[in-house]
This record gives sequence, C-alpha cells and structure tokens, in this order.
Amino acid sequence: MTWRSRANRCAPRTPRISFPRATPYGLEVQVRLHPGQTPAPFLASSDAFAHAWRVHSVRVVSPERGIVMITATARDPLENTDRPTLGAGELLSATVGALESGRAWTMDFRRVPHWLIVGATQSGKSTLLARLVTELAPQPVALVGIDCKGGMELGLLEMRLSALATCRSEAVTVLSALVTEMQARMQACRSAGARSIWELPEKTRPVPAVVIIDELAELYLTNGSKEQRAEAEECTTYLLRLAQLGAALGMHLVVAGQRVGSDLGPGVTALRAQLSGRICHRVNDPGTAEMALGDLNKDAVIVAQSIGEAERGVAVTTGDLGGWVRGRSRLTTPAEARAAAAEHARMTPRPKFLAGVPGGGTLL
Ligand SMILES: Nc1ncnc2c1ncn2[C@@H]1O[C@H](COP(=O)(O)OP(=O)(O)O)[C@@H](O)[C@H]1O
Ligand SMILES: [Mg+2]
Repeated sequence: MTWRSRANRCAPRTPRISFPRATPYGLEVQVRLHPGQTPAPFLASSDAFAHAWRVHSVRVVSPERGIVMITATARDPLENTDRPTLGAGELLSATVGALESGRAWTMDFRRVPHWLIVGATQSGKSTLLARLVTELAPQPVALVGIDCKGGMELGLLEMRLSALATCRSEAVTVLSALVTEMQARMQACRSAGARSIWELPEKTRPVPAVVIIDELAELYLTNGSKEQRAEAEECTTYLLRLAQLGAALGMHLVVAGQRVGSDLGPGVTALRAQLSGRICHRVNDPGTAEMALGDLNKDAVIVAQSIGEAERGVAVTTGDLGGWVRGRSRLTTPAEARAAAAEHARMTPRPKFLAGVPGGGTLL
C-alpha cells in the first residue's frame, strides 16, 4: 500500500449532504453520517450555523441513527401569528396558533385527550385558554370552566360555558357531576358493547365535554382546616378519575397553572402523569419546565427556559409525532373572547347532568 492510498483511507470523510428542501420559512438539509461520526458536532454548532447563514435560527435534530436534520428558519415565524393558519376544522380540534415549522398549532383532543399548560404569570396561559374556547365555541362541545380566581379569566367566556365554577366548593360540585356522568357513559358503552362513545350510534352519543381549569393551584390552597383539606382532596380524586377514564368517554381536561409540583398536594403528580399533552410557556424556575417537558425531552426543557419575558404566548409544546416544537398562540383579547362566546352562545349544550351545577343553568 502506498503512503498516498493510506492517507486517503484515513482522511476524515465529509458526511453526505442532501439537496436543500424548501420549507414555508426556510430550508431543510439532511445529513447522512459515516460510521464513526456522531451528531454531536452538528448539535453543538447550531448557533454558529445561524450566525454564518444570517438566519433567525437553525435547529439540529437527529431523528434516527446516522441521520442529522438541519432546519434553517429565515425569520421568526412566531413574530406574527395573525396569518390565517390551516385549521383541521374537525370536532374537538382547535387551531390555537402557529408553530415554528410554519404549520398550524392545533390541539386535537381526539388524538391527545388531556393537556397541561404551565407558565409564569403573564406568560400567556389564560390567553391560550381564551383562544382554545374561541376555537371550540362553534363546535357541538360542552365547555366547562373552573376558575377559582373568582372567575376573572373564564368569566369572560361564560356565555358559551355549560357550567362555570368560581371557587373550590363550586368546583367540587361541578367535578362530581362530571364524574357521575362519566360513570353513566361507561355503563352506556358497556351495555352497547362499545369501547368509546365514538362507537355509539350518533343519535345516542353523549355530547363531548372539555373541562378547562385556570390556575390549578387555587384548587389546592388551604388554610389547613379539615374541611378545606377534604375539599382539595375531593378535587384531586375527581380530576384523577376524569383524567384516567375520560378520554374514551368524551371527557377531556385542560389544566393550566404556574406550578404543578407535588408541593400542591398528593395526587398532583399522578394527575400530571395523565395529562399527556404538554404546553410550557416562559417559566420562572427550571423545575416547572422539567415537570412539564422532562418526560418529553431534555432539549425541550432547555428551549422552554430560554423563552424571554417579551415572548408572551410563546411555548414549547408536544409535537405531532411525539416530539416537541415551539409555537405561539394567536393573541385573543378579552373583548374578542367575549364576543366569540356571545356569538356562539346558542351552541352551548345544556346537558342534563349539568343542570343545577354552578353556571349550569336550568334544564331547557
Ligand atoms: N400569543 C400572544 N401574543 C401576543 N401577546 C400575548 C400572547 N399571549 C399573551 N399575550 C400578552 O400577555 C399578557 C398576559 O397573558 P395572560 O394570558 O394573561 O398570561 P397568564 O395567564 O399566563 O398570566 C396578555 O395580556 C397579552 O397582552
Ligand atoms: Mg392567567
């Protein structure tokens, strides 16, 4: 073997790079690594790429062994989310904003039945809830609000809510009615031989319900008295039951809060584990980001922690294929939310099981 051919064999080989593919906001390049090469240098260089190419951001991921995907985004797609996005328009699916990939950010309850939304004060949680309700308002869905901050946030949407609890004792009444209904649905499914309400004939299918909780911690704050503790425990039990069994029975949870740690009480960790859809806005402490996204991906936790104070409404969320993605909710002002609720007030289901509960009105 000549010295030249040996040198050729030992020379570092450049990875194979695909032809760049255009995306709505930039370019995507696939890199195939040679044996012995790892994605690490690419992952470490994403910032350097962004500066060298003068683009908004470069994301590097390794979707499978030996493959690296480099996605360059020319400008921040989350700067302006007013652009109409393509909504799925399906029952229980809501387009709440835009994703960094340029696609619509949808929360589809048929695919992901329960969601957890965390973020510091003023990070965009309630705005996202208002957007969600606005999107679900035209659909035949019962929306139930639990806002133990006196109903200041969800009260705006009251006209389109099938029930609204504004303090913990009301929340207990509402949640207990929901759990009783869930058991009735379970029975109905069992006797019809159906595994979910979606297998029931349309005529007898009960209306799906989305329970929206703003400021989870308010359900757990107690002054230590026995009654208050008992109330808080009741809430936990009901929420957990809904989360565990509700998906197939058309009962969905959306839980928003600043903190979701076990300091709120036993049961919160178990509840969190059941809420598979995750949305993490700007957070004050790394612990909260870890709790929201840790089981999803370590990178997601780091990205969530880099969301700045000025980036209201920006969040890291569960992606379509189980990964994670950055998105921004579409700004919904209180006036818009109230107007949407009023416009679709006539769509508000008044199911029997909510008759008599707070905000549930009387049976029509
Ligand atoms: N997607 C968004 N785009 C632009 N501004 C937003 C967005 N979401 C929220 N904001 C701004 O942030 C403020 C606080 O949002 P809010 O939803 O009340 O936060 P939180 O409920 O987390 O305290 C809102 O008044 C609004 O002005
Ligand atoms: Mg809020």
